[in-house]
Amino acid sequence: MISVSAPGKCYIIGEHAVVYGHPAIIAAVGKRCYVTADKYDNVKINSREIGEREFSIEELKIFALELRNKWNECNEKKDFSPLFSLLKQDSFNNVKAVVGEAMNVMGINDGCSIEIKSDIPIGSGLGSSSALAVATAGALNELYDKKLTREEINNIAFRAEQYAHGTPSGGDNTTCCYGGLVWFQKAQPKNIIIPLNYDKLEGFVFAYTKKPEKTTGELVQLVRNYDENERNKRMNEIGNMTKEMKEVLKNKDYKKMKAIINRTNDILTSFGLSIEETDKIYNAIREIDGSAKMCGACYGGVMLTWHEQPEKLIETIDRLGFTPFQTDLGVEGLRNER
Ligand code: PMV
Repeated sequence: MISVSAPGKCYIIGEHAVVYGHPAIIAAVGKRCYVTADKYDNVKINSREIGEREFSIEELKIFALELRNKWNECNEKKDFSPLFSLLKQDSFNNVKAVVGEAMNVMGINDGCSIEIKSDIPIGSGLGSSSALAVATAGALNELYDKKLTREEINNIAFRAEQYAHGTPSGGDNTTCCYGGLVWFQKAQPKNIIIPLNYDKLEGFVFAYTKKPEKTTGELVQLVRNYDENERNKRMNEIGNMTKEMKEVLKNKDYKKMKAIINRTNDILTSFGLSIEETDKIYNAIREIDGSAKMCGACYGGVMLTWHEQPEKLIETIDRLGFTPFQTDLGVEGLRNER
């Protein structure tokens, strides 16, 4: 039996803009997805969230191939809704996709039991699906002693993310896989991935609002449907702020950092990505001279907030009736647990 884990992630800046080729700064967060795997006849998947079910190895491998074909079809038409409806049909489909994909890539023909335990709130902008994909691919690599490199594991997780979200940037799975604080930019032939070895980020508090009513794929599509010129202008501004943020974080220029975080939230809001709850938190935190932004796909989930006195953030978030929490930023990526 083996056990591995991968952390969730949080965009310090650059979500959505990263889809259009701009850089992003992403931190691995101290909430993790744990996957324990053992040899077994069929493939047994067990998770607190979705329960337990068994599948044949063949069924999972074929499912992953079907998803690949569907993805290609959707990519040609630039419309991923048929893929999303297929994925939504069964709560096991996301896990089936990554297990099937990993089995195809690794050439696995033996069964396994997979147990998933995750601390990461699902669909909240903290990379729950990426952490699951990285940890599952990492677990199968260990169980079958395939000796895949971290890059190869990351590629499997990216494929699973493509099935779940259509055109993910790859920033989520990369951060969950490598950990730390990451400068990420989508590029050909290879993405740019630079570890930012700064002092530990302090003073951030998360605020949990509620599970978004739209998926990441749907929210990325919503932004894509926006007027192209206007979208490019705003995404360029986020891209420029990301470049500034790199220096700001290094030099701990907190005044500037707050202004950038707030402006980022304004731009994300201008695309229709906010909800009443996130607006409420944002406004209250600005009133106490702090900063707040939505995270990941947005539309609820968690918000990232900052203030020189973090206790003021906790008090404000609490007072509004939401759940504040603090967790380390820049933690270790995929790792063996035993
Ligand atoms: O909501 P999450 O955790 O899946 O993050 C999505 C981040 C986006 O920039 C909106 C999409 C992407 O693939 O980078």
